[in-house]
Amino acid sequence: MPTPSNPLKAVRGTRDLLPPETALWNRVESIARSVFSRYSFGEVRTPIFEDTQLFARGVGEETDIVSKEMYTWEDRARAQSEKAQSLTLRPENTAGVVRAYIEHNLADSGQLQKLFYIGPQFRRERPQRGRYRQFWQIGAEVLGPVSSGSESPLRDAEVLEMLATLLDELGVKNWQLALNSVGSAEDRKRYAEILRQALAPIKHQLSVDNQRRAETNPLRVLDSKDPADQALIDGLPKIADFLDDSSREHFAQVSAALDACGVTYTINPRLVRGLDYYTRTTFEFTVPDGSGLGTQNALLGGGRYDGLSEMLGGPRAPGIGFAIGEDRLILTLQAQSTEQAHEPRTLNLEPTKLDAYIAPLGPERNAAALALARELRRAGLSVEVGDGTFRLKKSFEAADRVARHIVILGEDELASGILTVKTFATGVQKKIERSALVDELQRAST
Ligand code: HAM
Repeated sequence: MPTPSNPLKAVRGTRDLLPPETALWNRVESIARSVFSRYSFGEVRTPIFEDTQLFARGVGEETDIVSKEMYTWEDRARAQSEKAQSLTLRPENTAGVVRAYIEHNLADSGQLQKLFYIGPQFRRERPQRGRYRQFWQIGAEVLGPVSSGSESPLRDAEVLEMLATLLDELGVKNWQLALNSVGSAEDRKRYAEILRQALAPIKHQLSVDNQRRAETNPLRVLDSKDPADQALIDGLPKIADFLDDSSREHFAQVSAALDACGVTYTINPRLVRGLDYYTRTTFEFTVPDGSGLGTQNALLGGGRYDGLSEMLGGPRAPGIGFAIGEDRLILTLQAQSTEQAHEPRTLNLEPTKLDAYIAPLGPERNAAALALARELRRAGLSVEVGDGTFRLKKSFEAADRVARHIVILGEDELASGILTVKTFATGVQKKIERSALVDELQRAST
């Protein structure tokens, strides 16, 4: 039973985002939308829950996400016409977007589809700084029939160049791009077998989690963060040595296009990523220690998934995409802004102040105050209204906290139509004709 001393709380791993922080989230999202539109992406919104099979088939049964992190439930039939169904809160959005691509026959247009999304995802992970059970992703996918150019290395490079531009426009400092190729599905399968064999004699020396992965999903051993396993992992065969010629050539062209754009990157042969649909290019953007993320330093990740559409019963539709962890992006911006306050910032992290605060003197002036607020707001100004019961000192204090100007509305002001306006930044107090107020405040806000 909830009581005043033991009230209900948000579920572990979930959080409330409140003003003024949400204003920062909105600014980040509007910069992302502006970048996406310059690169010709349109928005897609898929459901937050899907048939469990979508993730089992798309993301992979053996992945950590599917094997232990999904919120899955049996949805009961409510009518004779309905069947019970296993449903899952989406742990990621790529599988959902590819499902929508298939379901709505987007292949029929013959065009490349460039789709972006912003929304919550759900994974039952151990919560810590930068890792939540409900978290937000800003992501995008580029896919289409081969004839639309969807397989071209140009697409990979364009997506990576767009990400570099987005992070720069957001003002993220010192980001690093790590790149790898995991080859075709066959390369990957062959390499997994080679890894399994290489791991067999040394398996017992690995941490418990990695001993299991060495059997079930040997590629996952490579991106293990367990420090005790690093020396052993360094000695394992590298996937770059097992790529077929066309994957090797594809990767060389991605790298060359990035070089031509001046996007810097490092090649990390261990970057295989935790989802099974990846083929060829995989990548991650990280920020250095001290950027607010603790051990969760991956700001975003992505890669190519040339076989995913077919795995989900669709036509051949190679694709590439990424998802930014929005929670991590915000933590980074906040940490970097306090750490490097002397540098110019692209993104203003401070809450913005309202244009005006209207202070009615006495409850009889409340109605007139609301009418004045309506006039100003309809003219596009941002306005807060106090209350006639407040003493003048309290009104000034409240106004100074949230607005740039206070407009006093007393008996004299109402009778004469001449209002008293104080500007907090300068301390100047002026008398202004009511008819000139909108102009005056609009001038001050530009
Ligand atoms: P992912 O690497 O699983 O890839 O997630 C992408 C990003 O989401 C991570 O780099 C991280 O920033 C953020 N993230 C993941 N889990 C959490 C969590 N528990 N709490 C906070 N942030 C988290 C994908 O999801 C792929 N769908 C990306 C993709 C798109 N690949 C191709 N297209």
